[in-house]
Amino acid sequence: MKETKILSPSEWTENPFTLIGKEWMLVAAEKDGRVNAMTAAWGGLGVLFGKNVAFVFIRPQRYTKEFVDAADTMSLTFFGEEYREMMGYMGKASGRDEDKVAKAGLTVVHDGETPYFEEARLTLIGRKLYAQDMKEACFMDSVQPERWYPEKDFHTLYVIELEKILSAE
Ligand SMILES: Cc1cc2nc3c(=O)[nH]c(=O)nc-3n(C[C@H](O)[C@H](O)[C@H](O)COP(=O)(O)O)c2cc1C
Repeated sequence: MKETKILSPSEWTENPFTLIGKEWMLVAAEKDGRVNAMTAAWGGLGVLFGKNVAFVFIRPQRYTKEFVDAADTMSLTFFGEEYREMMGYMGKASGRDEDKVAKAGLTVVHDGETPYFEEARLTLIGRKLYAQDMKEACFMDSVQPERWYPEKDFHTLYVIELEKILSAE
């Protein structure tokens, strides 16, 4: 098992655009003792309510959403290039049909109540602060919502307070 270091947000220097947009992340949460996770490439890091936060966007049909809605916390995990195939699988299969975590060969560990994965190189532990369903009327024309949402399955935005940044490097 790799040694895990807790980073303070001020010493953490990764680029959020490549981290989320290119490396992608797993969003994981626990419900009734079960863990599900999905790949996400949309999101953000920032400051809100005077707290360090992350923003996550989840479509209504994702099984992971049921877990995220049931739990007070979630994890965002990052894996590096050698796990690209696993990230593709976690972004295609649904936990409704199979035990994705087991099939992906991931090992669930916990920080308090929050599940994350031992194989991750970086883990953000977050506590939900705010959730809101995106609304069609709120999109500017330049976004072209019909391109992103032909089925009108608008994302729910979650804002989570970053409670811990764990680095396994
Ligand atoms: C690269 C990539 C990025 C994705 N980003 C998101 C995202 O930000 N939000 C989302 O709702 N789904 C996203 N998805 C789709 C989910 O990961 C996918 O539908 C997954 O199978 C859902 O699994 P679940 O039903 O077990 O939750 C992404 C998929 C891939 C491959």
